[in-house]
Amino acid sequence: MQTRLHEMKESALGQISQVTESSQLQDLRVKYLGKKGELTELLRGMGSLSPEERPVVGQLVNEVREALEAAFSGKQQAFEQAELSAKLSSQTVDVTLPGRPVPAGTMHPLSRIIEEIEDIFIGLGFEVAEGPELETDHFNFEMLNLPKGHPARDMQDTFYVTDELLMRTQTSPVQARTMLKKEGKTPLKMICPGKVYRRDDDDATHSHQFTQIEGLVIDKKIGMSDLKGTLLTFARQMFGENQQIRLRPSFFPFTEPSAEVDLQCFNCGGDGCRVCKQTGWIEILGSGMVHPRVLEMAGYNPEEVSGFAFGMGVERIAMLKYGVEDIRHFYTNDVRFLRQFNRG
Ligand code: DAH
Repeated sequence: MQTRLHEMKESALGQISQVTESSQLQDLRVKYLGKKGELTELLRGMGSLSPEERPVVGQLVNEVREALEAAFSGKQQAFEQAELSAKLSSQTVDVTLPGRPVPAGTMHPLSRIIEEIEDIFIGLGFEVAEGPELETDHFNFEMLNLPKGHPARDMQDTFYVTDELLMRTQTSPVQARTMLKKEGKTPLKMICPGKVYRRDDDDATHSHQFTQIEGLVIDKKIGMSDLKGTLLTFARQMFGENQQIRLRPSFFPFTEPSAEVDLQCFNCGGDGCRVCKQTGWIEILGSGMVHPRVLEMAGYNPEEVSGFAFGMGVERIAMLKYGVEDIRHFYTNDVRFLRQFNRG
């Protein structure tokens, strides 16, 4: 029996040393040390030994078991080690490689102009408001003193969704929304940038969707001089400190009196050139003193408070400022166009 134990030990150790895969090692472990393994079988035969032989053989069995277990776990560790170093060498990261550049977008020129204008008005104490692009006829027209059938509605060709719902043609409805939210309190100073829609045929200067910024101020004793002073301050911060503006009488149903505001041509300084069509002036916005009816409908008493409002086209200002000749460039998103605004 002792001879058989020795033989088994030798042959097992030999096989273990030859194993090349960890699954084979597992099979061998079962073959020798498993419940039905060879060593266990041998142990069963111990009953037939004489009492003197038993402790000797028992000791030997233990030695063999320990020797095999040591061999198994040594081999197992070797496998794990090999696996780890294979992984390490196949998955190396070269930390000195330069990173792959991620192309960064640039701010859209319209967003940039909006932000610039917002900053100027925030500096003057205005808040920035918002309103829905899908608007009701009520807010887009009626609350602005444009009842159904009013001829001035034709000034803006409207995309109607239903009889009562439309794509807002102007940011002016946000005036009424903001006034109602304020519940008659003063002062109210807000601007509202946003998209507007009109049934225009697109060309170099028209787009069925464009961007406006609305402004509204309501307080006690607001006069035309406040309108002019505010817009002059805006023009100078936006276009340069020597800018001049000029107000021309105009008509809007929601303001009385109404004025169109011109900027002295920044290209020629007023002498007349191609940009200002030889007039020396460039129209940049519509404005006026808020009509008493508009104040009243939105919960303000025109006997106690007054206000001024204005609205400007953002594309127009961006085109003037950057010398863009076709409004459609802002929407086709050609990156060659957009990237130009990243400089500086
Ligand atoms: N909503 C006008 C338009 O789209 C622009 C405008 C003119 C707005 C005068 C105003 C204003 O607030 O007072 O043509």
